[in-house]
Amino acid sequence: MPHDTPTLPDWFDRRPLDQWLRQRGHVAFADSVVETCARRLHQPTNGDLKRWVAALDDLPSRQSRQLDYSDGRVRVVGPAVDPATLRETLMRFHPWRKGPFEFLGLPIDTEWRSDWKWDRIAQAVDLNQKSVLDVGCGNGYYGWRMLGAGASMVMGLDPILRFLMQFEVFDRYQTGPRRNFVMPMIDTDLPQKLTAFDVVFSAGVLYHRTSPIDHLRSLAGALVPGGKLVLETLIIQDDGPRVLVPEDRYAQMRNVWFIPSLEMLFRWLRRTGFEGIETVDVTPTEATEQRSTEWMTFQSLADFLDPDDSSKTIEGYPGPVRATVVASRKEAE
Ligand SMILES: C[S@@+](CC[C@H](N)C(=O)[O-])C[C@H]1O[C@@H](n2cnc3c(N)ncnc32)[C@H](O)[C@@H]1O
Repeated sequence: MPHDTPTLPDWFDRRPLDQWLRQRGHVAFADSVVETCARRLHQPTNGDLKRWVAALDDLPSRQSRQLDYSDGRVRVVGPAVDPATLRETLMRFHPWRKGPFEFLGLPIDTEWRSDWKWDRIAQAVDLNQKSVLDVGCGNGYYGWRMLGAGASMVMGLDPILRFLMQFEVFDRYQTGPRRNFVMPMIDTDLPQKLTAFDVVFSAGVLYHRTSPIDHLRSLAGALVPGGKLVLETLIIQDDGPRVLVPEDRYAQMRNVWFIPSLEMLFRWLRRTGFEGIETVDVTPTEATEQRSTEWMTFQSLADFLDPDDSSKTIEGYPGPVRATVVASRKEAE
């Protein structure tokens, strides 16, 4: 590594993942992961990061406490502490978007009922003893659920450092070998032909990408031949191969670029090296699944829909409908 490359901070320990990659021959990628993460964690604009690292130190000690994700919940269990102090420490990581979590009996009622999405996605693929890449993993909530479903290792990528730090809050209480990792990385940090993972998840990311085709290519490249993609995205419920490109915002989100119909999505998948494509689920997103809570006090979905017709966004587009599809990476490309 060149001399002027920053090193990884002590609190960011990803050695088991590093070893996993190197043992499987992905040495150049393992080097680039270290370099990329070190750079991202040393940006001068990271004033918040210092505050979050300090907040980690104020969490209850690990002694007699542990993370439990064995029964469909994700929670830290063990001796309770003063709930008001605990709440104040956890609120330093606000807004909590993906969850729910529970911490020493204190429920973290996140903006999203990600457990509902998980229940729809989980049936798509058998994770038993599988290595998983989760692109756009948020705070790693799904990673814990994947381990609970039998995955052997989960590497999650997400560029938002607040979500990385929410992951750290729970990761500290892992006991036994560490097998879920959130990395401050994005899809374009993946080499073209990594060929490393049995299963790749991309949930809620495709429509945020300016090039959905490049996104799908990077997912295909990360999979072993025959490996499975689980893709969850906004769709439009149109017959035919169509795509909605919002004029400006979609449900107040500035960064929504391409919302395909299922037929168009299948075409994109075929063009990018996938076969055996199947729809697992199609579900409209409702304001019971994505809403403001005391752990996410900003506006949420109800504020982004047409007040007179909740089947439309505030901009007049069809309201959010999400599809999950599963596909296999072709054996030979
Ligand atoms: C709508 S959220 C979905 C989170 C989670 N996968 C879920 O389904 O609930 C999209 C996530 O993707 C992340 N993201 C955005 N662009 C990305 C990229 N190019 N590569 C990886 N993650 C990205 C965002 O930071 C955000 O956490």
